[in-house]
Amino acid sequence: MAIVGIVAVDGQGAIGKGGQLPWHYSADLKFFKEQTINNACVMGARTWTSLRKPLKERLNIILSRSSQIETQPSIIMLRDVDSVLSLRKYLACDLFIIGGAQVYGSFLPHIERWIVTEVPLTVEGADTFMPEDYLQGFKARTTLNLEESLKVTFYEKA
Ligand SMILES: NC(=O)c1ccc[n+]([C@@H]2O[C@H](COP(=O)([O-])OP(=O)(O)OC[C@H]3O[C@@H](n4cnc5c(N)ncnc54)[C@H](OP(=O)(O)O)[C@@H]3O)[C@@H](O)[C@H]2O)c1
Repeated sequence: MAIVGIVAVDGQGAIGKGGQLPWHYSADLKFFKEQTINNACVMGARTWTSLRKPLKERLNIILSRSSQIETQPSIIMLRDVDSVLSLRKYLACDLFIIGGAQVYGSFLPHIERWIVTEVPLTVEGADTFMPEDYLQGFKARTTLNLEESLKVTFYEKA
């Protein structure tokens, strides 16, 4: 029952542009689904907005301090990191932190493993980047090549 960060980054640590993913790689979407299916996914309000609908066969936890998000039966809305950590005790699955940058930043002290897909791009005009040194204290354990020249690295606490 680990807390796992999962992210796709470009060559400069960019993850978003204009509130969306700045690329479309079906191999990475498939990989993301395989990794997260039947687990819980924690995301920020902006990432939730970009998804538009809940991730299927996963518990969708949306983090927001405001009450602007419309609730619906298939999502859980929580107000802070501590609420997510409290809920974790009742979960029989892994807790994937799926972004965006604010949420990765908020969970940095709690993430036990990272799964990072490097995309072979440098996105022009990217506006959302991973927190600096997010992999500090982690060691690469395994790598995997996906289609479309994507490279995945699994990191664990050193
Ligand atoms: N490449 C990838 O793997 C990847 C993954 C996910 C997202 N993205 C991209 O990243 C961008 C979005 O990232 P972002 O950093 O702008 O936004 P975000 O982290 O998705 O959402 C930010 C919002 O989440 C809420 N929030 C964040 N931290 C919180 C905390 N500690 N406690 C309570 N609420 C908290 C706040 O919502 P309220 O304002 O409602 O209070 C905040 O405005 C998009 O472009 C998206 O496509 C990329």
